[in-house]
Amino acid sequence: MAITGINHVALQVRDLEESRKFFELLGFEESGHRDGMLFFAVGGHHHHIALIDSGADAPRVSRAGACINHFAVTVDEESEMGRLSSVMRDAGYKIRRSIDHNANLSVYVEDPNGIIVEITYDVPKEKWAHIADNPFGQDKPYNPLPEDA
Ligand SMILES: [Fe+2]
Repeated sequence: MAITGINHVALQVRDLEESRKFFELLGFEESGHRDGMLFFAVGGHHHHIALIDSGADAPRVSRAGACINHFAVTVDEESEMGRLSSVMRDAGYKIRRSIDHNANLSVYVEDPNGIIVEITYDVPKEKWAHIADNPFGQDKPYNPLPEDA
């Protein structure tokens, strides 16, 4: 037996409806709810994301201490990077950076609570530039947006 991947992440947020808008715009669909919680998924999974209401007075994420730095969602086509990045930017969400990591192309967008969600396209393994056999040995500029970044 072995683990097979990450099943879901649970986020404490200050406003469930504000966060619903963000995750639905990314492409997640609500898969359930209960008092003070919303669940989202794609592809028939029960939930990839749980949102837990922390109340409007809860502080935004601070990166000063131990915390989740970011988590990533996968898109299935490289062309989707530009489309989805534009959708999120045009909705007013801040694009923090975008990078060609070699093994994956990444755009980092900030959610309403300051949580960074990485939109990523997995580059087929045969296209990786093998740098000392380390797929993470290279970061290059990457900009899928039609203008600016
Ligand atoms: Fe990442």
